[in-house]
Amino acid sequence: MRDIDEFSITQAVIEANRTGNARLVTIMESLVRHLHEVAREVRLTEEEWFQGIRFLTEAGQMCDDKRQEFILLSDTLGLSTLVTALNNRKPQGCTEATVFGPFYVEDSPLVDNGGDIANGAHGTLCFVSGSVHGLDGKPVAGAELAVWQSDDEGLYDVQRPDATDHQARARLRTDTEGGFHFRSILAVPYPIPHDGPVGRMLEALGRHPWRPAHLHFKIEATGYERLITHIFRNEDDYLDSDAVFGVRSTLIADWTAHPPGVAPDGTRMDQPYYTLHHDFVLNPKPAAAPAAAEQGESA
Ligand code: BEZ
Ligand code: FE
Repeated sequence: MRDIDEFSITQAVIEANRTGNARLVTIMESLVRHLHEVAREVRLTEEEWFQGIRFLTEAGQMCDDKRQEFILLSDTLGLSTLVTALNNRKPQGCTEATVFGPFYVEDSPLVDNGGDIANGAHGTLCFVSGSVHGLDGKPVAGAELAVWQSDDEGLYDVQRPDATDHQARARLRTDTEGGFHFRSILAVPYPIPHDGPVGRMLEALGRHPWRPAHLHFKIEATGYERLITHIFRNEDDYLDSDAVFGVRSTLIADWTAHPPGVAPDGTRMDQPYYTLHHDFVLNPKPAAAPAAAEQGESA
């Protein structure tokens, strides 16, 4: 393999790969072809190539267990939304999925229905209720919901260096009717972290870093596909310019403002508060195909 030039380089790289891992070969061949095509199409200069290397280096250096600059890069380039769409094609009537984002935490506290998930996070009180059903209309009892959101300054607990406890996040289980309800705070629009290379990229492209107000949900139940989604707040200024392209019309809901009075859980409220109700519809998993041996036996 000698005298490789701008025309033969792509095939040379592809042919250098020696593995029986067919999926890896498929992905890497495609990646190399497209990467090289970009360089050819824009006639990438050496200075631009080096700027790109510096950008990726800084993105890597920015990452730790609390800051995921590469997820932000994927999100702002629309890759996260594309991968979500490719992997979550659901029948009409199912709740749509959207991006996961970088602020989910495993094993948040399990709270009872009616519990306060804010746990001290600041914001206007908001009472959230809803249900989980299958596409056939059957209530899904015992589904596990993980919920997470930012506070009224647009920060998640994991973004606060002084936070010692989970705030504005929890897990709940649906009751026998598939219902759930909890007390939290009002979601507000917030900018994604933009003090790193991804923020500089957005600025250079004339883009803003804002996301419309939303509540995150991850819903898991036996026999149904996992659902990762948000519920967005109607009339938010950023619904049509979400920095990470995650808004689906079917996920926009009315969050109702109430004057001081008696809240849904019977609490007397001195301050205005909000309520949100949303019903989720899960896609049943296809029935498991019978094992080959069983098929043979019954034939
Ligand atoms: C989020 O909604 O939490 C989020 C999603 C993508 C990038 C940053 C934050
Ligand atoms: Fe979020």
